[in-house]
Amino acid sequence: MTNERRIFPSLLVATVLGVVAMQAHADASTDQAVQAQLQDYKATMQAFGKTLKGELQAAMKEGGPMAAVQVCNERAPEIAADMSAESGYTLRRTSLKPRATEPTDWERVVLEDFEARKAAGAPVGEIAWHEVKEVDGEKQLRFMKAIATEGVCLTCHGQDVDPKLKAEIDRIYPDDQATGFEEGDIRGAFSVTAALED
Ligand code: HEC
Repeated sequence: MTNERRIFPSLLVATVLGVVAMQAHADASTDQAVQAQLQDYKATMQAFGKTLKGELQAAMKEGGPMAAVQVCNERAPEIAADMSAESGYTLRRTSLKPRATEPTDWERVVLEDFEARKAAGAPVGEIAWHEVKEVDGEKQLRFMKAIATEGVCLTCHGQDVDPKLKAEIDRIYPDDQATGFEEGDIRGAFSVTAALED
C-alpha cells in the first residue's frame, strides 16, 4: 500500500470527525442561545400574566364582572400589544375554546398535546413546550405555556355564567366558546414567538 492510500482515509476520518465536532459545538451554542432566550420569554410572559391579572382583579373590585369584561376586552389586547412592542417578542394568549384569539395551526397542535399531557396526569402548572422552527429562512423560537383555570376565572369562563353577563359577553364576542370550564382545567396558553437570537 502506498502512503497516499493510507493518508487519504485518515484525512477523511479527520474531516468527518472535525465536521461532527463543529456540529456538536454549533448545537451546544444554539442550545445555550435557546435556553437564554427562553428565560427572557418566561420573564416577559410572567410580567404579561401579572399585569393582566392585576387589571382584571382591580376592575372586578371596582365595577364588578360587567365592567371587568369591558376592561378585558379593551386592555387585554392593548397590554399584549404594548408588551410585544417593548420586548420585541410576539405575545399572545389563545385557547382550544377561544373567546377572542383563535389558535394558529401549530398552536392548536400544541394545545391538543397539552390536553393529552394533562389527561396523562401532568400538573397544569408545569405544562410547557418550545421548538426552534425555520420559517422563511429564519430560525424562530416558539414557546407555549398552559394557563390553569382558577376560581376567579369562573365568573366569566365557568359553567354557569350569570345570564346577563353572558349576554354582554356574547354581544362583544358573538362566537364565544370560552365558557364551561372548571377549576383546574387548561383555560388556554401563553404563546411567545420571536426570531432566535443566535
Ligand atoms: C370579567 C370577565 C373575565 C374574567 C373574570 C376572566 N376572563 Fe379571561 N377573558 C375575558 C374576556 C372578555 C376575554 C377576551 C379578551 C382578550 O383576551 O382579548 C378573555 C380572554 C381570555 C384568554 C384568551 C384566549 C381566548 O379565549 O380568547 C385567556 C387565556 C383567558 N381569558 C384566561 C382567563 C383566566 C386564566 C382567568 C382567571 C385568572 C380569566 N380569564 C378571567 C373575560 C374574563
